[in-house]
This record gives sequence, C-alpha cells and structure tokens, in this order.
Amino acid sequence: MSTPTETDVLGRLASWQRALRDQFPILARHPEMAYLDSAATAQKPAAVLKAVTEFLTTINANVGRGSYPWATATTSRVEAARERIKAGLGDTGSDSTVEFVSGTSHGLRVVAQDWLAPQLGDGDEIIVPFGDHQANLRPWQDLRDTLAQRGIRIQVVPMPVDIASGDYDHRALPSVVTARTRFVAVTHVHHVFGANMNVHRVREVVGPDVPICLDAAQSVGHGPLSVAELDVDFVVFSGHKMMAAPGVGAVWARNRRGPRFAMRGWSGTPNTAGIVSLAAAWDWLDRAGLADIRAWNTALCARLTDGLSRCHDVRVLGCQDSLALDSQVQRRESIVTFRHEHVRADDLGFVLADEGIMVRADSHCQAGRASEDLAVRVSVHVYNTPEEIDRLLEVVRRCEGMRS
Ligand SMILES: Cc1ncc(COP(=O)(O)O)c(C=O)c1O
Repeated sequence: MSTPTETDVLGRLASWQRALRDQFPILARHPEMAYLDSAATAQKPAAVLKAVTEFLTTINANVGRGSYPWATATTSRVEAARERIKAGLGDTGSDSTVEFVSGTSHGLRVVAQDWLAPQLGDGDEIIVPFGDHQANLRPWQDLRDTLAQRGIRIQVVPMPVDIASGDYDHRALPSVVTARTRFVAVTHVHHVFGANMNVHRVREVVGPDVPICLDAAQSVGHGPLSVAELDVDFVVFSGHKMMAAPGVGAVWARNRRGPRFAMRGWSGTPNTAGIVSLAAAWDWLDRAGLADIRAWNTALCARLTDGLSRCHDVRVLGCQDSLALDSQVQRRESIVTFRHEHVRADDLGFVLADEGIMVRADSHCQAGRASEDLAVRVSVHVYNTPEEIDRLLEVVRRCEGMRS
C-alpha cells in the first residue's frame, strides 16, 4: 500500500479538524487572523478555559495545606494531574514521579542543579545538544561552571548532529561516549527545523545505564509520546505549548537510573490553576486523538515545504532531503523555518503580520545562533488550516524578486 499523501491526510481529516478548530474562542473571535506561531505558545480550547474557571469558582484553595473540603479537593486535583501526566506519557511504572515547574526552561535547570549536580565528580562527562534551544544547553553549562567553583571539573560534550538528515548522528555518537559519560540531554522535536531527533537511537548507543533527559517542549501535545518506547529517564515540557495555561510545566522522572528525583528546598505554593489546565489540556488532546493531530500537523508542514520549495528565493532551513515532493525522509513535525534570499526575515515578518498572518521572525533562542541570524518560523497546531498555509505561500510568492 502506498503512503498517504498530504492531500489524502488533509482530506480525510477535514471535518474532524473543523470541529476541533471551532472550539478555540480566540480563533472564533478573530477569523481573519492566521496564528502560525504555536511553537512559541499554543492557543487554548474552551474546555481548558472552562476547567480553570470551574476550579477557581468552585474549590480553589491551597494545595497540601488544610483539611477543609476545598483544600482537600484542590490537593486531590493536583495529585490527579500527576497521574494524568503519567498516563499521557504512557508510563506504566510504579516508581515514577511528576514534579510541577514553571516550564521547560525551569524544569531542565532543576534536573541539572537538584538532581545531576550532586552526582558528578571530577573528570565526569555529560553529552548535551549545542544546536537546540538554549534552554537545553545553558543549564548544563551553568552546572559545569558551578561545579568548577567547587573544584570539580566536568566536560560538557556536544551531541553529534547529522547535517544531511537533520537529527542526531547515532553513527558518530559512539566516538563521544566514554566510560566517564554520566548523563545525556536530548531534544525530541527541534524547535527551528521541526525534525524529530530520533532519540530512541541514543539509548541504543549509550547503553542501559546512562540517564537520558528529554526536552519534549515541542512534542508533548503534538503526537503520542511513550516513555516506555523511548526509555528516557526524564521528560520535561511546558504547559503553554500544549494548550494549557502559561506558567506551568512538569518534570516526569523514571527514578530507575540514579537517585530518586526531588526538587530541593521549599518551592512554595504551586500554580494550581495551571496544573488543572494541564490535565484538562491533556484530556482534550487525547479526546481529539494525538495520532491524527500529528498526521494533520505534518501534512500542513508538507504542504508548506512543497510550496516553499517552488519559490526560487526561499531556502528552508534544516534537512534538505525531506523537502523533495515525494520524500520518504521524515517530514517536518509542526515546524518549518525558512529564509528569503533578498528580504530580511524581520521585514517578511512585518509583511505577513500586515496580512493577518502571525509567525515568528527572529533567531529563535537557538543555542549557537547569533541574535542577528534571522529566519521566519511557521509553526502549526491542529487548529490551523490548509487555507492559512496557502495564504502564507501567496504572500511569500509575491515577494519573489523583491529586495529589502
Ligand atoms: C525545544 C524547546 N525547549 C525549551 C523551550 C523553553 O520553553 P519555555 O520557554 O516554556 O520554558 C522551548 C521554547 O520554545 C523549546 O522550543
């Protein structure tokens, strides 16, 4: 059987998608606007907004402090949210834990400082990505610097990347894994290139004992994610990118390799309304169907890369093999970033905004990328339509031959 084309997928899922899109109040209020910046933050369905309002207007109290009914009900909601996250991640283990943080940046820093720091000794090595989001590089570099102040020198080794395929280079990885490798950090889906980084291959190379921490900021809520299949030890993600409220995220920890994960110190009152929104968002995404959400988003990105590859002045960043119209190489998952040869990305961002099309046009917080190294990032979620992609392509086509 041949693989369904993007048109097949968009046709098969069209009425399903329309029904989902109708559930986003902000989009209903602004039908003329095309929101194509979901990798920055996703829009929220009415069910999530309702869950937050309901919580705040019925049982709102502090968590874990108080024996009156609202307090115990709030505590139960927070505990239920931890279980909801475990179920969402396909976690069937009994030792795992979920800690709430403010988002991925905070969560990765907590893993570095609270869990990893006490375990590292002089001469140890950690392998981390140098070309992904800064949030997944800075905490590990800061950890190295903090330890150095205490006289412990560790090496922060770059995870090799295969330029042709756009994901991690599992063939080059064995050459950087040593007997002193104590930890590996990876990203699930790249926030600029939209590439699925094939992290399952990393476990195959590093062996059964090295803990792996997954930055899932761009994958949670965009498709099914199974910690059993990936065999990672931490999954860190942000609620706001998966249709929950801003200011909340989670660190899921397997607790099998190394000590049990716990946040150090007194963390105070958690973001209870945010936690409620996280559970509600996961319920909504599951009901919608995460496999179909991934298929829809990937098909939208294929439509976009196909269109862009016909524009002479445009270069899509990242793996070029995936751009051929009949490519069997992995397609972009929800994110496509490009540059116009003659029109500056920030100018193109303004032109698009003028047409009611919202994209991100800057350097995308990518580690190693200079702040003046600009590109246009288009990022979709299930509420986006093929018509919105076509509108964007139409504007880009009009810029053919133009110069800033
Ligand atoms: C891959 C990746 N990791 C981490 C982050 C940081 O997320 P937050 O700003 O929610 O902490 C982002 C945000 O764009 C991201 O794309």
